[in-house]
Amino acid sequence: MGRQETYNAEGSSYEEERYGTSHMQSYLETRCQTLSDIIERVHGKKKDLQILEVGCGTGLTLQFLAQRDSSTKLFGMDFSETMLRQSHEKALQTKNRIAVTLGNAFGLPFNNHQFDVVYATRFIHQFYHKDKKTIHQELGRVTKKGGIVVLEFYAYGYHWLRFHTGGRKGKSWESYFSHYPSAKEIRDIVGGTFEPIPVRLAGERVFHKILGKNGVQWLMKKAAHLPASALIDEYFVATRI
Ligand SMILES: C[S@@+](CC[C@H](N)C(=O)[O-])C[C@H]1O[C@@H](n2cnc3c(N)ncnc32)[C@H](O)[C@@H]1O
Repeated sequence: MGRQETYNAEGSSYEEERYGTSHMQSYLETRCQTLSDIIERVHGKKKDLQILEVGCGTGLTLQFLAQRDSSTKLFGMDFSETMLRQSHEKALQTKNRIAVTLGNAFGLPFNNHQFDVVYATRFIHQFYHKDKKTIHQELGRVTKKGGIVVLEFYAYGYHWLRFHTGGRKGKSWESYFSHYPSAKEIRDIVGGTFEPIPVRLAGERVFHKILGKNGVQWLMKKAAHLPASALIDEYFVATRI
């Protein structure tokens, strides 16, 4: 089954399966708030922002961003009809207009320099390095000068440890690590230096049980300042266009 068929088949159970637990709800909240903070840091209180999510899935992050001021225009794009249908249902319930479009990340159905922010969560890891670069360029094409592209990555360090402690699950080095690019590979994908902005801790389920939601968020802030970022599992990389 190809990737598109997989998401079409999984679509209706995706949210429950991926975000159904309290620690995943907490991660989702942190991810949405961190993204919103990045947007605020770059664009301040600017009106009429145009924001695009690529691979928007069921529209959870768009739903959160719809709480921004009503001049913000939100766009979601995905190549799975089943996933997109759920984004569409959320769009009908939110006060901001969210426009959802069927399309492919390798050839976005949008004009050059159309958006102030283009982002993707839990999306780019699926592709091999060359394709990650191509997609980043395509996201950059539809972003305005002075705008940003924000991508969520899984951390190399933590997954390197997992690989060497039994997490490999029969996968080759190449197929395993294509999900977890090194800092050098990220620099190549985004075309420059970058600063990771943490959104999820390694072993968050356990930390969540012991420390609770507030404790995890406190630890996340600390992890951002550790020289060795071994505690981080997922993080954002924001690139100015
Ligand atoms: C793991 S889901 C993530 C969904 C959502 N962003 C989230 O964080 O929950 C990946 C999404 O990317 C979409 N996708 C995968 N490849 C794509 C492509 N080439 N173009 C557009 N969408 C794609 C899938 O249909 C799916 O909805």
